[in-house]
Amino acid sequence: MRGRRLRNFWIFSLLVLVSAAGWFALYSLACYRTEGNSQSPLKKTAPVQTPQYCREKTVGNILKVYSQDWIKQKGYITLLRSELNSKCNGVDKAIVTQTNTAMGSNITYDAEKRIVKVTPKLFDTFVKDSPFINKTFKTCSVVGNGGILANSSCGEEIDSAQFVIRCNLAPVGSGYRRDVGTKTNLVTSNPSILLYKFGSLMELRRPFVERLGTFGDSLVLFPTFSYGQNTAVSLRALYTVQDFGSPARPVFMNPEYMRSLARFWKTRGLKKRLSTGMMMASLALELCDEVHLYGFWPYPQHPRDCRSLNNHYYDDMKAKSVHAMPVEFDQLVQFHNQGVVRLHLEECTPRPKQSHLPFFLHWWCS
Ligand SMILES: *[C@@H]1O[C@H](CO)[C@@H](O)[C@H](O)[C@H]1NC(C)=O
Ligand SMILES: *[C@@H]1O[C@H](CO)[C@@H](O)[C@H](O)[C@H]1NC(C)=O
Ligand SMILES: *[C@@H]1O[C@H](CO)[C@@H](O)[C@H](O)[C@H]1NC(C)=O
Repeated sequence: MRGRRLRNFWIFSLLVLVSAAGWFALYSLACYRTEGNSQSPLKKTAPVQTPQYCREKTVGNILKVYSQDWIKQKGYITLLRSELNSKCNGVDKAIVTQTNTAMGSNITYDAEKRIVKVTPKLFDTFVKDSPFINKTFKTCSVVGNGGILANSSCGEEIDSAQFVIRCNLAPVGSGYRRDVGTKTNLVTSNPSILLYKFGSLMELRRPFVERLGTFGDSLVLFPTFSYGQNTAVSLRALYTVQDFGSPARPVFMNPEYMRSLARFWKTRGLKKRLSTGMMMASLALELCDEVHLYGFWPYPQHPRDCRSLNNHYYDDMKAKSVHAMPVEFDQLVQFHNQGVVRLHLEECTPRPKQSHLPFFLHWWCS
């Protein structure tokens, strides 16, 4: 009798164990499938069944590097910062100031053979001191304008940085707030947008002032001394800001800084003219302990699902580019890999999980 009871007990225990294991397996599978269906970060969803483009070697390698966990490397950051600071000194030199550019001196343009003499009238348009002196920021967001930002939900994250740099007066606010945010501390303005979008500021100037208004009291950086044709229109922009009493703070990029940056990157394989994004990333590396890059992705397909991307998050205009974006991007991926900058290619907030599981499975999965 005792032997039989013992045997029954063991059989019963075994049954309980087996069924528990079975349920565990089932529940785990259910959880796994739920997670697989949700919008998880890039690193969790390896590209499956992708078109030819995404299987290309470069993109594949980039994703492999990118999918590893990012660990900030303070040592490398300090090293690169001190190198940039000693060779380029963006803190003092990125912007033309009354301190670094004397009245009566010559300014030598960086993109063509040309000089201009600093007359008292021109000198008056320069800011007194560099706005970056004695300033370092804990975190910076540098926002490239790549189509990858569309539907990224990265706005809040971008705005959470202490210092936010944007490029080429790209639109913020209303329709774009969720994806790119609004906070701006520095925005660049290249001449083509002044020439084509704002009629060289020879006609109505209010549209330009209204666009500037969306950036508040941000610094607005013009490449005034790159090409001869940039100078007059940059000055008109500055006078427009003054005439309309706009809170924007126009400043001029220093061609000397551009030349030293070009030399700096040339030794690292970037031979073509640097893009604005690369210049701003370089400046950020000098100013910020932690540099986060958004909207930097030079390929026409999204890295996660290969859907085709617009050229910019706000339009699909192709620029006739003199830059070598993929080469620059390679460098940034290397920096990401080394923990020097943080590239963001994934969407910022995962969409809420959509599942049809009963509540107790949600509890189990979480
Ligand atoms: C500026 O350039 C002009 C024309 O090349 C030259 O004559 C002049 O000496 C230069 N001035 C200075 C301060 O270098
Ligand atoms: C920067 O800091 C130094 C040392 O604290 C100080 O002497 C200098 O006046 C400061 N410069 C500016 C522009 O605030
Ligand atoms: C963004 O998402 C919306 C809704 O899902 C979609 O209609 C739109 O085409 C997407 N835009 C881009 C640029 O991917």
